[in-house]
Amino acid sequence: MDLIIKNGTIISPVATYRADIAVTDGKITAIGRNFPEEGAIVIDAGNKLVLPGAIDAHTHLAMPFGGTISADSYMSGTRAAACGGVTTVFDYPLQKKGMKILDLINDKKAICEKEACIDYAFHCCITDLNGGEILDEMEKAVEEGITSFKCFFVYKKEGMMVDDGTFAKLLIKAKEIGAMINIHAENPDLIDLNIEKFMKEGKTSPWYHYLSRPEFVEAEADKRAVHWAKNLQSPLYIVHMADKEGLEAAIDAKKEGHEIYIETCPQYLEFTCDVYKREDGRNFVCSPPMKGQESQDALWNAIKTGGIDTIATDHCPFQSYEKDWGKDDFTKIPNGCAGIENMYPYMLSAANEGKITFNKVVELCCTNSAKIFGCTEKGSLTVGKDADIVIYDPNKEFTISVDNMHSDYDHTIWEGKKLSGYPVMTFSRGKLVYKDGKFLGEPGWGKFVKRVGRN
Ligand code: URP
Ligand code: ZN
Ligand code: ZN
Repeated sequence: MDLIIKNGTIISPVATYRADIAVTDGKITAIGRNFPEEGAIVIDAGNKLVLPGAIDAHTHLAMPFGGTISADSYMSGTRAAACGGVTTVFDYPLQKKGMKILDLINDKKAICEKEACIDYAFHCCITDLNGGEILDEMEKAVEEGITSFKCFFVYKKEGMMVDDGTFAKLLIKAKEIGAMINIHAENPDLIDLNIEKFMKEGKTSPWYHYLSRPEFVEAEADKRAVHWAKNLQSPLYIVHMADKEGLEAAIDAKKEGHEIYIETCPQYLEFTCDVYKREDGRNFVCSPPMKGQESQDALWNAIKTGGIDTIATDHCPFQSYEKDWGKDDFTKIPNGCAGIENMYPYMLSAANEGKITFNKVVELCCTNSAKIFGCTEKGSLTVGKDADIVIYDPNKEFTISVDNMHSDYDHTIWEGKKLSGYPVMTFSRGKLVYKDGKFLGEPGWGKFVKRVGRN
C-alpha cells in the first residue's frame, strides 16, 4: 500500500460511514480498518470528511471566444481545479467551421499532455457538419473515448450556432453510436430582436444583457431541445440550466421516462439577475444570464428533489480589461465567469450549513457526472476506482478572494463569499496535488480520461 487515509468519515451518494482507505498504484485497493502501515504514507483524517474528487463536467479553458481567449490555460485552470477539490475536468474544444473534429481533439490532447495537472476529458463542440463528414467522425471520436458533443442554439455572429436541422441530425447520430448531445439552450432570434431594440433605445448597461435573454428566452429553447430529444428518442444533456419554466419542462420529460439530464451551475444558485444592476455588473455577464429569485428557488428545489443531475461550473473567465470592453455596450462583454475552484467548496458549504446533504453534493458533483458521461474509473470512493480523493475540514472557515485562488484571472464574481468548511487536501490518482491552500501538483500529471459510450 502506498497511501492510507484513516479515521475519516467517508461520504458516498447513499451513505456516510467511518472507515480507512488504502491506495496502491493510484487506485483505491481497500476500504476497511487496521491496514498494515509499513511503507505507506499515512494521513490522519480524524474529524474530517473524505470525499471523492469532484468532476467539473463543464469548462472552457483557453477558448477563443468573445474576441479574446478565456483567461485560464489548461495549466492554470487544472491547477485551480485541484485546489478546489476537482480531480477531473471536462473541457469543450470548439470546432471552427470546416475543421475536422478529430484534428481538434488531437490538438487539445497534445496541449493537455504537457499542461494538465489533473485528469481531463472532452466534450467536443460541433458548429458545422462539414457536409456530413463530421457525423462519421463522431463515430471515431466515440471509439477514442469522446462520447459527448455539444452544440449551441446561440452565438450566431461567433459562428457557433447550429440550426434545428443540424441539432436533429446530431441527436439521431448520437443515439446510433452511443453518444450524448449537450445543448446550450437560448433562442437566438429573440435575443437579436431584444438587442436591436435596446441598442436603438440607448439601453446598453449589463442589466440589458439580462433583459435581452430573460427567462422565457431560455425556456423556449429548453422546451424545443426537449421536444426534439423526446420525439427522436435520443438522450440529451442540457447544460447550465438557469430558468424555472425550462427546468420544469425538462423534469416533466424525465418523469415521462425520457433520457434527459440537467446540469446547473453554482452562479445560478448564488446570484440573481440583480447582480447586473451592480457597478461591476459586467463581470457577471455570462450566457444564459442569472435569472430572478423564482428561478433560483426552483433550481434549489430541483436539487433537493432529484430533478437536477449534475453541478458543473461553465468556467470561462476573462480579465477585467476584457470585461471593460463592454462598459458602455453590454454586447461587447466577453461572456463567461470563473468557478472551477469554487464549485465543490460552495456546494459542500451549503451542505455544511444544512441546506442539502453531503451525500447529495457527492451525487451531483461526482457520481452522476461519472455515470452520465462514462467515466468508469471516477466518481466515487470504491475499490478499483482511481484514488481521486478530497479531505474536507468542516470547521475551516474560508472567504473567497482572487488573492487566494489559483487561476490566472484578475477578479472573481465570488469575491468576499464566506464558506463554512473547506477542502484541505486533494489527491489525484493517489498523488497529493493540493494541501492547505497550496498547489503541490505538476503540469503533465493529468491523463486523458477515455470514456465508454452508452451502447
Ligand atoms: O457565458 C458563457 N457561458 N460562456 C461560455 C460559453 C458557453 O455558453 O457555455
Ligand atoms: Zn453555453
Ligand atoms: Zn459553457
